[in-house]
Amino acid sequence: MDDQLRQKIEARLSAKGLPVDIAVSFNDVCIIDRKSDIASRRDIGNFKTRLARDIFLNIPIVSANMPDITDSRMAIALARLGGLGFIHQFLPIEKRVEEVKRVKRADSSIIEKPITIRFSERLSDARALMDAYQISGLLVVDEEGKLVGILTSRDMRLQEDLSLYVKEAMTPMPLVVGSPDTTKESARVLLRQYKVEKLPLVDKAGKVAGLITAKDIIKAAQYRSAVRDKKGRLLVGATIGAHRNNILSDVDQLVKAGMDVLLIDTARAFADPVEALLKEIRAAFNELPIVVGNIDRPEAALMLIEAGADAVKVGIGPGSACKTREETGVGTPQLTAIAECAAIADEHHIPVVADGGIRVGADVAKALVAGASAVMLGSLLGGSEEAPGEAFYEEGKKWKIYRGSASLEAQLSRMDGGGLDHVRPTEGIQRRVAYRGEVSSIIEDLVGHLRSSMSYVGAHTLDEFKALGTFRRQTEAGYLEGKPHRNEE
Ligand code: XMP
Repeated sequence: MDDQLRQKIEARLSAKGLPVDIAVSFNDVCIIDRKSDIASRRDIGNFKTRLARDIFLNIPIVSANMPDITDSRMAIALARLGGLGFIHQFLPIEKRVEEVKRVKRADSSIIEKPITIRFSERLSDARALMDAYQISGLLVVDEEGKLVGILTSRDMRLQEDLSLYVKEAMTPMPLVVGSPDTTKESARVLLRQYKVEKLPLVDKAGKVAGLITAKDIIKAAQYRSAVRDKKGRLLVGATIGAHRNNILSDVDQLVKAGMDVLLIDTARAFADPVEALLKEIRAAFNELPIVVGNIDRPEAALMLIEAGADAVKVGIGPGSACKTREETGVGTPQLTAIAECAAIADEHHIPVVADGGIRVGADVAKALVAGASAVMLGSLLGGSEEAPGEAFYEEGKKWKIYRGSASLEAQLSRMDGGGLDHVRPTEGIQRRVAYRGEVSSIIEDLVGHLRSSMSYVGAHTLDEFKALGTFRRQTEAGYLEGKPHRNEE
């Protein structure tokens, strides 16, 4: 590291109250409280943060790009709450594209390209489409794409013979329809007036030009913190690994599917091939917000930023299912890694995502004070209802499985799917995590604690929290003192 860089980093660490000579992690420090003008914690309601380029979140939380954490269901749930999910990279590209489309379709106020079916197809085809896209109705069109009816699950409910043609079961025209420029407000009036659930939009030639559903309008109003794109669709990220073929074509497909932010994810991003790949993707997709990781060194942050990263993801081995540090001896304790990378990233107005090792609300707060703009969560979300995988009972309790991406079990499952040809040395474990119900209650709990931390520091916003927050080192006895203890024994 050159002297100038070292000086900047040392100045930042000292200003934050972190040691320069030794790397520390969450439990090694406490946040220093400050005199505050905040009368009540409830006065703090702004958790807005920048994830990358022009992508802003309403809470500083993203879900890990892992098969046991993020598919479209988690991404939808988190975006509705103001965070964001990164669809993981261990799916064939067609499946990843499908997952991104699912998120973009979920409670978007206007569906631009609704799924349609020809009137001459069978009900069994309709059922397959409805199941694949998890939707409750299909617009029915003729050979020229003109709307001729609608087929909803209500039309199919008592229908036993799925070999019937769609035209035999659909509700035919005339239907209540809108023009392509129908606004959400006028759609709401029409849906209410005619007591219908779906409002197809058709152009002058009678061709399908969109769809507005009552469910989506209700959901848009229900999730007030949701993060959405300009068209009102939920935001979603998707991941590519750094060592695959056809990467540019994969990225292109994800962009076309509506992905808002790309994550280039690899265990070791401080590497020539990652730098070259990032430059290539940046050159081909100038406007695309790109997050790249993982790193734990400020020089690595600088390299990625200069190669075109819009955010860097920090964390080598802090994760709850990681064995990387144990097996390789490499990996900076996470709080120092975040603070050092943020010292450089801040200068370039590039956000840092703190990935791994977050176990409690205090860790979220500490990651942000150290300089992160968002935290990435794996195991904390792994026990949620929305995480992929079935819950099971063991020893009288409900659990879900959480596999480190480099665990033997995760690698075997990728081999089964054809995504891996041999098992590499394992640097992760499989563990069970307690079932914790809906992701909304986990997030509510974490955000509640974050609000409380902010009030102790006197911060009304996350920017203030990051600027005002500082640390003091604590002993292990000091850390243990802060855990609940009882004196009656
Ligand atoms: P938490 O602590 O939230 O961490 O469960 C999630 C992060 O852990 C990383 N990860 C791994 N790291 N071996 C590793 O060294 C693995 O097998 C592995 N699987 C996941 C990843 O960065 C994730 O976001």
